[in-house]
Amino acid sequence: MLKGKHIILGITGSIAAYKAAYIIRGLVKKGAEVQVVITPSGKEFITPITLSALSSNPVISDFFSNRDGTWHSHVDLGLWADAMLVAPATASTIGKMANGIADNMLVTTYLSCKAPVFVAPAMDLDMFAHPTTQQNLERLRSFGNQIIEPATGELASHLVGKGRMEEPDKIIAVLEDFFERGTLLKGRKVLITAGPTYEKIDPVRFIGNYSSGKMGFALAEACAVSGAEVALVTGPVSLQIHHPNIRRVDVESAAEMHQACQEIFPTVDAAILCAAVADYRLDNPAKEKIKREKSGDLLLHLIPNPDIAASLGKVKKDNQVLVGFALETNDEFQHAAEKMERKNLDFIVLNSLRDTGAGFRCNTNKVSILMKNGERTDYPLKSKQEVADDIVKQLGSILNARI
Ligand code: PMT
Repeated sequence: MLKGKHIILGITGSIAAYKAAYIIRGLVKKGAEVQVVITPSGKEFITPITLSALSSNPVISDFFSNRDGTWHSHVDLGLWADAMLVAPATASTIGKMANGIADNMLVTTYLSCKAPVFVAPAMDLDMFAHPTTQQNLERLRSFGNQIIEPATGELASHLVGKGRMEEPDKIIAVLEDFFERGTLLKGRKVLITAGPTYEKIDPVRFIGNYSSGKMGFALAEACAVSGAEVALVTGPVSLQIHHPNIRRVDVESAAEMHQACQEIFPTVDAAILCAAVADYRLDNPAKEKIKREKSGDLLLHLIPNPDIAASLGKVKKDNQVLVGFALETNDEFQHAAEKMERKNLDFIVLNSLRDTGAGFRCNTNKVSILMKNGERTDYPLKSKQEVADDIVKQLGSILNARI
C-alpha cells in the first residue's frame, strides 16, 4: 500500500526524534519515498546526515539553502505529498499548526499541504494533558488531521504516563491502513444524514434535539477518505466539512431532509442515516411570535413527520445498502432489531444513552452493529472518527461482496 507513495516526514525537537529514523527506514523498506522536513530544534536531537542517508533525499529545514540561496518551496512539497506525517510532534509545533504560526519550514509545508496529515504527539504527560494541548489537538482533528495517540509508559522525565510517541511500526501501520482504506469505497456514492432537525413553532422557536452532527460528519469524512463520493444532508450544526469529495446539503426540518434524501437516494450505492430526525412537527406553526398568555397552558398540536429511513427502505434496490442508527435508552437490542426490520435496513448501529461517553454531542461513541442475519458486534468506547471507520469497514465489506 505504501509503494510509490510520497510521504513528508516532519520532525520536531523531541527526545523521540530518534524514532523518526526507524520510521524512515520502515517507510522506505515498504517502497515509499520520504522527504524529511525538520524544525531547527529537531536538529538538536537527530542530525540531518542520518536522516538524509536513510531517506536518500536532502533534508529540508530552512526556507533558503545557505549554500546557494535556492528557495525551498513548501508549496511544491505540499503538492508533491500523498501524506504528511509529523512524528514526533511537540506541544509547540502542534500549537503552531493549530493556529497557523508559520515561522518555520515544517509549519509552512503543513499549511500548503493538500494531502492528509497525521500527527504523532510526543511530550511529557502533564504537557499532553494540559487543556491548551488538548484544545490544539481537537482543532487539528476538526481540520481533518488524524492524531496518532501517544502511548502510556516511561517518559524522558522518568515520570510514567501518556505522552510517549507511538512506536514506529504502529505509526507505519496507521499510514498503510489509511492508503488501504482509500480503495474500500472507491467509485462508490454514499448518502449520509447528520445532525438534528428543527421543527418550527413560530418564527423564533423550534422543536429540536441535542445532536451536534459530529457522528454524521465523521462518517462523511471516513467515507470520503475511503474513496467514496459523499452527499451529506445535514440539519443545523456548527461543523465544517474538509474533504473535497463531500457535497454538503443544508436543511432545517425533517420534511426538507426527507425531500433531499428522496432526490439523492436513487443515485447512490449506500445511505447511512445518522441524523436525529424529529418524529413530530407542528401541524400549523404560528406566522407571528406566540405571545405569553397571562394564564393557562400553551398547547401545541403535533403531527408525525415522515420516517426517512423507512421511506428509503421501501424503494431500496437489491444493489443498494441502507444503514440506520438506533438511539435508545432501554431494551436497546430489541428496539434496534425492530427498527432494522421495520425500516428494511441492511444493518443498524446501536448507541445507548445509558453508556457514558456515547450518543449526543461528545467526541466519543460506544456502538454495537446488528446485522440483518442476526450477527452482532459490540465495540468498546472509541472516538467518533474510529467508530465511523468501523462502520465504513462494515459497509465496504457488504458492497464489495456484492460485486
Ligand atoms: O450528532 P451527534 O451529537 O454526534 O450524536 C450522534 C447521534 C446520537 C445523533 C447518532 O449516533 C444517532 O444515534 N443517530 C440516530 C438518532 C435517532 O434519531 O435514532 P432513532 O432510533 O430515533 O431513529 C432510528 C433511525 O431512523 C435513524 O437512522 C434515524 O436517522 C432514522 N429516522 C428516524 C426518524 C425519522 N422520522 N426518520 C428517520 O429516518
